[in-house]
Amino acid sequence: LRALATFPIGVGVDGGYEAHSLPSTPAEQKIVEKHFSQVTPGNIMKMSYLHPNQNTYDFAQADELVNYAAAHGIGVHAHTLIWHSDYQVPAFMKSFSGDKAAFLAMLDDHVKNIASHYAGRVQSWDVVNEALNDGGGYRQSLFYQHAGPDYIERAFSAARAADPDALLYYNDYNMESDANKLASLTTMLDGFKARGVPIDGVGFQMHVSMDYPSVNQIEASLKQVVDRGLKVKISELDIPINNPYGSAYQSGDIKTAYTLDLGLAQKKRYCEVVKAYMDTVPASQRGGLVVWGVSDPNSWLIPFLFNNRHDDWPLMFDGRYHDKPALRGVADAL
Ligand code: XIL
Repeated sequence: LRALATFPIGVGVDGGYEAHSLPSTPAEQKIVEKHFSQVTPGNIMKMSYLHPNQNTYDFAQADELVNYAAAHGIGVHAHTLIWHSDYQVPAFMKSFSGDKAAFLAMLDDHVKNIASHYAGRVQSWDVVNEALNDGGGYRQSLFYQHAGPDYIERAFSAARAADPDALLYYNDYNMESDANKLASLTTMLDGFKARGVPIDGVGFQMHVSMDYPSVNQIEASLKQVVDRGLKVKISELDIPINNPYGSAYQSGDIKTAYTLDLGLAQKKRYCEVVKAYMDTVPASQRGGLVVWGVSDPNSWLIPFLFNNRHDDWPLMFDGRYHDKPALRGVADAL
């Protein structure tokens, strides 16, 4: 796959296993080394792992991944300096008791120490992940409660100062399906521009389903960022056969086995999503395409959104590490 693109072709590792750093099996490593030019750590660079206590950082496992990638000529998109998700926020931040200025100073240190540790060794950062609400507005996260929206731009400024060469991304989900969330994104970006906040691009996670959102919706959403001169990254693409997000799932119409027909429909969907990216984002603004996981059994969707109730097959490689039609679908679009 990597030979077909002039921009990073990435994969999330190891998002299926908490706190593992390398791709989980030698077979997955082979796939990563053959097909991808970039990795995103699925977990190991999140706040709680890198910064467990206010005065303690633990870089060992993330360093292992960064060194592995470097040894194989693979770049790293680092994920993520700030994210609200409760169990991946350090306990000391949850019990932080100072005022707004003290909280922001603490976050400045967090960003500075981590981004400077990896300066020169990662290509890009998700500086802030998921700061917007579904339905629009800012998410009322721990960070927001302490500091209002100011924490977002402080984090970008601190990241730029600590690693001037890394591309800095804002990353979020459903911006291609939720018009109010997209409007909040563009308002935020316009504010950044007016105030000179350093940002290079926007990551659309793209946890989409087989039939939603439409190609038109995806293209129109990406265009909002393209028109603002920023890079666009598809940062966490996966396309489950069963839709964990919509009413089909609730109605109990569950596919319990993967068939060639389903695989071919999934190929078409992978192809049209990547084609939407290629058609909408000019080459100079393509930040990369990342699929969120290597092989199907390892997808985060199975424990996280399907609650382990049944299988799904959202990725480009199956449980025996064979490539699926989905891989060809992506290749056809590149
Ligand atoms: C997920 C990981 O894949 C899981 O292993 C973990 O349990 C939870 O986080 N959006 C993001 C990612 O930005 O960090 C999430 O990763 C998936 C949704």
